[in-house]
Amino acid sequence: MEAREAIRRCLELAEYTEEPGHITRRFLTPPMRGVHDRVRAWMEEAGLETRVDAAGNLRGVSRVAAPRLMIGSHLDTVPHAGAYDGILGVMLGIALAARCRTCALEIAAFSEEEGARFGVPFIGSRAVVGDPVMDPPVLAAIRDFALDPACLPAAEMDAAVRGYFEIHIEQGPVLEALGVPLGAVESIVGLRRLDVAFHGKANHAGTTPMDLRRDALAGAAEWIGAVEREARAVPGLVATVGQLQVSPGASNVIPETAHATLDIRHAREHDLDATQAALVAAAERIAAARGLSVEAALRSRHPATAMDPDSVAALERAVATAGYPVHRMSSGAGHDAMILARRVPAVMLFLRSPGGISHHPDEAVLEEDVTAALDVGECFVTEWGKRYA
Ligand code: GLV
Ligand code: MN
Ligand code: MN
Repeated sequence: MEAREAIRRCLELAEYTEEPGHITRRFLTPPMRGVHDRVRAWMEEAGLETRVDAAGNLRGVSRVAAPRLMIGSHLDTVPHAGAYDGILGVMLGIALAARCRTCALEIAAFSEEEGARFGVPFIGSRAVVGDPVMDPPVLAAIRDFALDPACLPAAEMDAAVRGYFEIHIEQGPVLEALGVPLGAVESIVGLRRLDVAFHGKANHAGTTPMDLRRDALAGAAEWIGAVEREARAVPGLVATVGQLQVSPGASNVIPETAHATLDIRHAREHDLDATQAALVAAAERIAAARGLSVEAALRSRHPATAMDPDSVAALERAVATAGYPVHRMSSGAGHDAMILARRVPAVMLFLRSPGGISHHPDEAVLEEDVTAALDVGECFVTEWGKRYA
C-alpha cells in the first residue's frame, strides 16, 4: 500500500463523524463503529488477526511467532479536527504490516488519546500498559459500546511485545522551517490538565449595580489573562484555556459559574510544578478579591518522557539508510508513545506538517513525506526484526 492510498484512507475515515461537516470523533461514540469496520478490513487484508479489546482499541497481530514490535496511534479526534492526527499513524502501521509480512508486528489503533470526551487522555493506551482509566463515565461509555469493563485486564499487552514505534504528523512548524520531511523524536513534553471552576452568584443583569456583583465569568476572564502572562514569562512553557462553560448562560443573567480547563506543558517537571502552583494561587487571589470561590482539580498529569535512546539511534540509521536527512527533535504534543514508554522501549517518527497546522481542518501532509515515512518505517521494522531473529 503506497502513500496515496494511506492518505485516501485517512480522508475516507474523516467521513465517520459525530457532526456532519466537521471531523469530530471522540472516545467510543457511534462513528467509531464504522471506523472499526473499515480499519479491521484493512488490517485483515494486510494479513493481521484482529480483535477489539475492552478499552475499544482495535488490535491487529501478525501470524509470525517472535518478539513483537507494536506500531500504533489513535483513531479518536479533537472536535473539528483534521484528517491525519493519529489516523495516519494507524494507516502507516497497516501499510508496514502489509510490506513486512515476515515481521512479528502488532498494529494498535487506540480508541482514545485526546481526552476530548471525558477530559482524561490516553484511555486506549493506558489499558494496553495495564493502567486502565476506571472513572465511572468511562466505564459507562465502554458498556454503551457493548464492551465489558471486566475484560479490561485482558487489554494489557502480552509479553511478546518488546518495543513500540509510532508515526505521527509533527503538528508544529519545525520540520517545515528546516525544509526536512521527517524527524526522529527523542523526548515528549510533560503535560498537565486541570479543571478550574469559579463560583459566584447569578442575578439580574439589568438591576444589579456593577459594584454589587459576584460574576464568575468576569473572574475567570481576569484569570485567563493571568494564565497568558505567566506562560509568556516562563521560557518554553505553553498554557491554554481551551474550554469554558458558563452557567446559567443567558445574556440577561450574571454568570453564576464558569468552568474552565487549563492545559500546561513544559519539558521540566519543576517548571510545571511552579506554574501549576502560581496559576492556582492566581485563581484564588482573583476569586477572593471578587467575592467568588474557586476550585481547582488536577485531572491528569503526564511527566516529560524520553524516548528509548537505542531506538532513537536505530530510527536515525533507518532515516539515513532510506536516503533522507536526519533530524532529532522533541515533541510539544502528547502521544500514546508516552504511555507505551512505561513498559517497552518506545520511539516516534514525525512527518512535516504543512503550515505547522494541526487540531484544525486544514491539517495536511505531503504525499512525498508519507512515502519517506513508509520507506524509513520499512528499514526500521526490518532492522528491529533482525535484532530478535
Ligand atoms: C494531543 O494531541 C495533545 O497533545 O493534546
Ligand atoms: Mn491530537
Ligand atoms: Mn495525535
